[in-house]
Amino acid sequence: MADAAAVLDLLSGGFVAQTLHAVAALHIADHLADGALTAEEVAEREGSHPRATYRLMRAACSLGVLTYEGDRRFGLTGRGQVLREDVPGSLRNFLLVQTGHAHWQSWGHFPDAVRKGTSQTKKALGTDIFEYYAQPENVEEATLFSRAMGDLSGLVTDGTVAAVDTAGVSNVVDVGGADGHFVLALMEANPGMLGQVLDLPHAVEGARLESEKRGLSDRFSAVGGDFFAEVPAADLYLLKSVLHDWDDDQCTAILRNCRSVVNEGGRALVVEMVIGEMGRPDFATRMDMLMLNMTKGMERDLDEYDALFAAAGWRRSKTHPVGSGYSALELVAL
Ligand SMILES: C[S@@+](CC[C@H](N)C(=O)[O-])C[C@H]1O[C@@H](n2cnc3c(N)ncnc32)[C@H](O)[C@@H]1O
Repeated sequence: MADAAAVLDLLSGGFVAQTLHAVAALHIADHLADGALTAEEVAEREGSHPRATYRLMRAACSLGVLTYEGDRRFGLTGRGQVLREDVPGSLRNFLLVQTGHAHWQSWGHFPDAVRKGTSQTKKALGTDIFEYYAQPENVEEATLFSRAMGDLSGLVTDGTVAAVDTAGVSNVVDVGGADGHFVLALMEANPGMLGQVLDLPHAVEGARLESEKRGLSDRFSAVGGDFFAEVPAADLYLLKSVLHDWDDDQCTAILRNCRSVVNEGGRALVVEMVIGEMGRPDFATRMDMLMLNMTKGMERDLDEYDALFAAAGWRRSKTHPVGSGYSALELVAL
């Protein structure tokens, strides 16, 4: 019985994810930001069905996202705060991406990803995920995806910026840098440092806007390009959550492209979730299922990363755990 209850709990992960999706999509946490409200008051502000809104808020309360204040009034917990829009530490964009159209359609085919060892985005969306985001009709989802990556970067940038050695680094390229949160945080901590984001042409406008928002546009440029073709020269390359999107040969190609133009004494910094000990609870193994289903990539353990680095002319010199399951791996050119 205990095992059956445990499996029921695990399999309800899908219901939980969609419950959180509705909380985010209906801005429930934003409505409650200034204080507790009844479900009827939230429904009136949101234009949603009052009884269904009450049921959603009751479920969110049971998940520890909302508090119950009595008299049908609900407030926000710390978890609920994380689902607000545009607040520091928000995961709302990431949640909307993970439970939204592209990802959810693709999860419907997951067993075939294991049978065939291939991503299911072609079957679900007609194309691979980055081509899907590059299509003009998917611009809203693409923008949300870049913001979602920024949400996740926010979890680790402070720890990484504090840990990483930037002595002698004046020129940094954030490879596949999306909205540029990572390189811009490094530039904020290092006045005088020049930074660039290299990303696909459709994805770099967000980085330009983010650099203006932070008052860093005079030291920053956004380059639309393809990291399989070429990357700009730099003293330091940042690769956060990029290698996990690609197979071993593709990762080697990206790392080799950086290695071939890195300035004398140059370095690279890879930030990824590294798979830990077998059988222990490990969020990286769940992310690995996502990678299997949505990309050609995978989460890797340290030995697997080291093999990639060696194949591309790099050596790992330092490893820093930087929080939320991520590690920052400092590389030196061989
Ligand atoms: C998982 S996201 C990581 C974004 C960012 N580094 C972060 O962690 O917030 C991968 C990024 O790689 C970019 N990308 C995919 N294929 C690319 C290519 N061929 N050349 C350049 N960028 C690419 C995507 O547009 C996306 O922004």
